[in-house]
Amino acid sequence: IYGGRLASFGPNIFVESQWQPFKAAVDAHLAQTWQANPIISGQQITQDSHQHLTLNNVVAPWNHQVAVGEVVFADAKLAAQAVEAAHQGQDKWQQVSASERAAILKRTADLYEDNYAQLVAMCHKEAGKTLQDSIDEVREAVDFCRYYAEEAERLEQQTHSFTDINGKQVTQKRAPRGTMVCISPWNFPLAIYTGQIMGALAAGNTVVAKPAEQTSLIAYFAAQLMYQAGVPEYALQLVTGAGEVGGALTSSAHIDGVVFTGSTQTAQLINRALHSEERLQQVAELFGDKKPLPILIAETGGQNAMIVDSTALPEQVVKDAVMSAFGSAGQRCSACRILCLQEDVADSVIELLKGNMAQLIVGNPTQVSTDVGPVIDQDAQKGLRAHIEQMRKDDRARIIAQTPISADAAHNLSNSTFVLPTAVEVASIDVIGGEHFGPILHVLRYKAGKLDELIDEINATGYGLTLGIHSRIETVANHIERRTKVGNTYINRNQIGAVVDEQPFGGSGLSGTGPKAGGPRYVARLTQWQTL
Ligand code: NAD
Ligand code: ALA
Repeated sequence: IYGGRLASFGPNIFVESQWQPFKAAVDAHLAQTWQANPIISGQQITQDSHQHLTLNNVVAPWNHQVAVGEVVFADAKLAAQAVEAAHQGQDKWQQVSASERAAILKRTADLYEDNYAQLVAMCHKEAGKTLQDSIDEVREAVDFCRYYAEEAERLEQQTHSFTDINGKQVTQKRAPRGTMVCISPWNFPLAIYTGQIMGALAAGNTVVAKPAEQTSLIAYFAAQLMYQAGVPEYALQLVTGAGEVGGALTSSAHIDGVVFTGSTQTAQLINRALHSEERLQQVAELFGDKKPLPILIAETGGQNAMIVDSTALPEQVVKDAVMSAFGSAGQRCSACRILCLQEDVADSVIELLKGNMAQLIVGNPTQVSTDVGPVIDQDAQKGLRAHIEQMRKDDRARIIAQTPISADAAHNLSNSTFVLPTAVEVASIDVIGGEHFGPILHVLRYKAGKLDELIDEINATGYGLTLGIHSRIETVANHIERRTKVGNTYINRNQIGAVVDEQPFGGSGLSGTGPKAGGPRYVARLTQWQTL
């Protein structure tokens, strides 16, 4: 909860009097289906007016017979129109004062809270998130709105005017950068989507938002709330669609930057698109040498480890590892992928891990008791199952635990995208082969006295998003923290769920460029200093 100061507490599902009426409201929304389409200069781009566009059917990840809605996907031509509209709107939006922009962001937060139950229902139904995850998702989105609103005000207060000793008047102030393309992932379909847009708007930039194709319905509804809160139609364009349309946006000569969250591979494609010969030539034809270089903010994937030494408390380790690896069905960039156990405690921790995993409830995410819901779609399910099968066949790996599906969900397995939470012991990190974005925890033993070799192996992955450390010796924890190259390190707790303002979030190396989301550099990075 942002700063603990603001009223963005959601209902607490552990307090029955709070969650029961709330759950009834969520369930009423679950009965609905929704529509989404691009919005350009305030115009709804539907199939009625644009018959050639693709209509995408969305079904619930836990039961494909449950319809969620329909989404009109934009094409490259509409992407170009959206960029043009945002580019045209830039002049007007930057005339709006920081305090007015902040007020709009705060009204967006209020409207999100007014529509809490519907937003939670959409997180459930479109993204397959559990009740607690959906509640947390909305709360984080609200926190981003309020925190970035205050950031906009703080940055404006940094305007510094003075008369120097020779009598010259000097002013130093922040100015926006221009049109930002904001491309977001499906795993935080509201929070990250909202954070990117609000951060860019707070800084005075116009936005073309391209939400993940899997979660366009909640993105569309949230965009409607933003307009209702006062975001002008010229300042925010919505482009629903798949990766190709994202490619069209990032190849445009008119944009001033890209704010991206998603896989490392896609970030690399975007980086290439921004610097491609074709784009540079277009820029030269249109602007000569007058166009500033675009900025790229990319928050990307991870191969996150938790290092446990022999002084750690096993029960605490297992509780935190299970939450970090299997919470949100392992679909958090911050999730623990490799549990590194000092050899002398490994067997006892693994026994506890098996017991804890056996208690998890894997099933319909709309049930309050569910711990692990489905993964996002069939492609994700196929890839994760293939990895488990590969681990089963590999001599250097051994499956040590797998949680069965709950009886409720078992009858409908072929019509859903569940992946069973799986723990697999591996001989080395190389065996894992990259980020597997789901409920799979790799367990690696290391010998006492070989901690530095383990740290080298973790650093060699090139990723650096989150790290968990469990040790009761402060010097050991400090040594690990200093030698690893990681954005967010958590000591003697789980390694997920960074809190806006309190724990700015983002990785280093292959995991991200910074600035950290929910931190004091974020909105600032989307502005530039001017001296007058
Ligand atoms: P993804 O890279 O497949 O897609 C992310 C977005 O990029 C989507 O909107 C997609 O349509 C778009 N896209 C795809 N190809 C594109 C292209 N060529 N040009 C422009 N846009 C394109 O990622 P995902 O599967 O949606 O999300 C999961 C990944 O995101 C994981 O790797 C996870 O670790 C990472 N992630 C990172 C953070 C973080 O803060 N570091 C947070 C959440 C997720
Ligand atoms: N900010 C999210 C977390 O910390 C990704 O889990």
